[in-house]
Amino acid sequence: MRQILVAGNWKLNGSLDSITQLITGITAGEDDTGKTQIAVCPPFVYIPVVADLLADSKIAWGSQDVSDRDAGAFTGEVAGAMLRDFGCTYAIVGHSERRSLYAEDDAFTARKFAAARRAGLTPILCVGETLEEREQGITEDVVARQLDAVIKLEGIGAIGESVIAYEPVWAIGTGKTASPQQAQDVHAFIRGKLAGLDKAVADKVQILYGGSVKGANATELFAMADIDGGLIGGASLDAGEFLAICKAGG
Ligand code: 13P
Repeated sequence: MRQILVAGNWKLNGSLDSITQLITGITAGEDDTGKTQIAVCPPFVYIPVVADLLADSKIAWGSQDVSDRDAGAFTGEVAGAMLRDFGCTYAIVGHSERRSLYAEDDAFTARKFAAARRAGLTPILCVGETLEEREQGITEDVVARQLDAVIKLEGIGAIGESVIAYEPVWAIGTGKTASPQQAQDVHAFIRGKLAGLDKAVADKVQILYGGSVKGANATELFAMADIDGGLIGGASLDAGEFLAICKAGG
């Protein structure tokens, strides 16, 4: 059986004070979260602080992005090996905000996925359609295209050593959660597509749902056959809400 993973994506939020309080609140309740795997992804600069605060915890941490390059004259970039130096386990790649606001396309996302793996990080590959694409009935085409770019570069085996996050863009930060069935349908499509290439990979890979997950809707989402946890934005900034989501997976 696949374990439930709940990962918090803090996005561009927090201060030294607020993240210290947030981590203190989360670690105070972590013993009640059962077998749920938990991770938090702070802004880059706070990763060393979070690493210290989580030293005695089961909670892992990761980055929200990673450079496609390993080293050199690439101003402003942060390499995977640097993130490993500070104990990161995960790196989110291809979040829809990076794709839409920073024009990161499928091929670039695939190179970031590869760079994360070169450094020993587990990529959390985000895929998902916009509202317009859903209304056009091309959700599956979009998600397949986003996955294919990575599979073409890195091979299907690499997907088995990563995490996939299905995040419908229309559900992110909008309070509009996909219904459990809507999410399950896309998760099943993703797993089915992967199974067509390698059944063992499809059986093993954790596919998270992201988009307005809260304590109140996590249980029914995580109960679906192909939903293996969540990638949490807004609700991950509140220790009580985040713990409630973690408990839903326990
Ligand atoms: P919200 O949970 O705020 O909708 O954000 C989801 C998300 O983008 C996580 O990566």
